[in-house]
Amino acid sequence: MKLSTLGPRVLGTVAGLLALTAFAAPDALLNNRSVWSGVYTAAQAERGAETFQASCAGCHMPDLSGRGTAIPALRGDVFTGSRHGQTVGEFYEVISTTMPPGRGGSLSAEQYVDVVAFVLNQNAFPPGDSDLVHQDEVLAGILFDEGVAAD
Ligand code: HEC
Repeated sequence: MKLSTLGPRVLGTVAGLLALTAFAAPDALLNNRSVWSGVYTAAQAERGAETFQASCAGCHMPDLSGRGTAIPALRGDVFTGSRHGQTVGEFYEVISTTMPPGRGGSLSAEQYVDVVAFVLNQNAFPPGDSDLVHQDEVLAGILFDEGVAAD
């Protein structure tokens, strides 16, 4: 699928859903979403898994557990704690410009965003109905937060 057509289609779909659920403004897509909102699809996470295993797992390990203090884990409290309060846009930026070390930017934007989906999936953030797209304004509107309190 061409990326140039993916963005508008996804946005259109989500805007339609928002209209149905009476969440008024399309702004709701660009703001106030979190990693708990279902911001990627399961299929996208599977694509990201392939890229991760090929390009990242050699260092960060196939199960994302990292290697001691030298190579950070990309799952669990260590990971979510370090990302807390940041946006998915910041996370995407770090990965796509610095990873793999010395070869930042060596993967396509689509591959990087798929890897982000995979990492979210491995941290138990739920999938949703639309792929995560690599548009700055969309990624910047998704926050790593604690989610909804249980009580
Ligand atoms: C050659 C080994 C190596 C490979 C391959 C590699 N990384 Fe890393 N990664 C590291 C090291 C070492 C660090 C810590 C130092 C640093 O941040 O540069 C790191 C840091 C990170 C961080 C920052 C962690 C944090 O919480 O701040 C992320 C995210 C990350 N890597 C993701 C990836 C992804 C995604 C890939 C595949 C596209 C990848 N890495 C490939 C070695 C690697």
